[in-house]
Amino acid sequence: MTDRYAVFGNPIGHSKSPRIHSLFAAQTGQDISYQAIVAEREGFAAAISAFIAAGDGPARGANVTVPFKEEAFRLATQRTPRAEAAGAVNTLTFDAGAISGDNTDGAGLIRDLTHNLGCDPAGRRILLLGAGGAARGVILPLLLENPAELVIANRNEETAARLALEFADSFARLPGCALSVKPDGASFPGLGGRQFDLVINATSAGLSGAVLPLPTSVFAARCLAYEMVYGRATPFMQQAREAGARVTDGLGMLVEQAAEAFFIWRGVRPHTAPVLAALSGK
Ligand code: ATR
Repeated sequence: MTDRYAVFGNPIGHSKSPRIHSLFAAQTGQDISYQAIVAEREGFAAAISAFIAAGDGPARGANVTVPFKEEAFRLATQRTPRAEAAGAVNTLTFDAGAISGDNTDGAGLIRDLTHNLGCDPAGRRILLLGAGGAARGVILPLLLENPAELVIANRNEETAARLALEFADSFARLPGCALSVKPDGASFPGLGGRQFDLVINATSAGLSGAVLPLPTSVFAARCLAYEMVYGRATPFMQQAREAGARVTDGLGMLVEQAAEAFFIWRGVRPHTAPVLAALSGK
């Protein structure tokens, strides 16, 4: 019997996850099915239960996207430390009544940076824009790479300061990490005069086409500007390009977080380069 997987979100129509996972499955010879399921805004838990109960083969796992990652966190009966740090879950594994929750977003970003983009975060000055769920999910994985500094800047400066403080505390408690950098919070105007080697946009501004009030000086020479949104040219990407930065969108992160989920479920790590090439039409 074929093991079943699905991605849950609302909306979910344009999700690339079914294509990504079927390419992974074909490449690794795994017999799985993977579908996209739209859940009602108030019906996430019910949709998961229905998915587990129904179907021809056993339900083994699910990916979770906007707006259900926090609810998936609560639904999980056990969670990994990185899911705890993110406060959100994007990967569920079903096993004999237990629901394990993990978050592969941060690992996906780090792997895209290091393996696909040749940008090792170690020793770099990193600016993270945004203080919502997308930002929260990548803070601990970035800190664990030992950057020279990590500044979290947000439109609402107070939220950035709170998030930085929270991670400074939790990071300090992790064994072996005592000597590493603690994140700082900042406002956009407060970034004037500062420079960064890696600028990551984790705000949702790109989705509405909003321009971030970023001083152009934040992009240091040979800076990589990383837009977490994919599939569209955002004002942030335009700003960064004009400032001379190397620019990328979040398609690599999407494929890499999926590969990490596939590895959790199937115990094999698929090659991402051909899948990334297929998705970007190269
Ligand atoms: P997500 O889970 O995708 O991170 P979210 O929790 O709603 O979504 O957070 C959205 C982030 O984008 C926030 O950091 C938000 O800034 P505020 O905390 O000040 O609201 C940021 N954001 C959204 N639209 C923005 C805009 N037009 N300019 C600047 N920041 C914006």
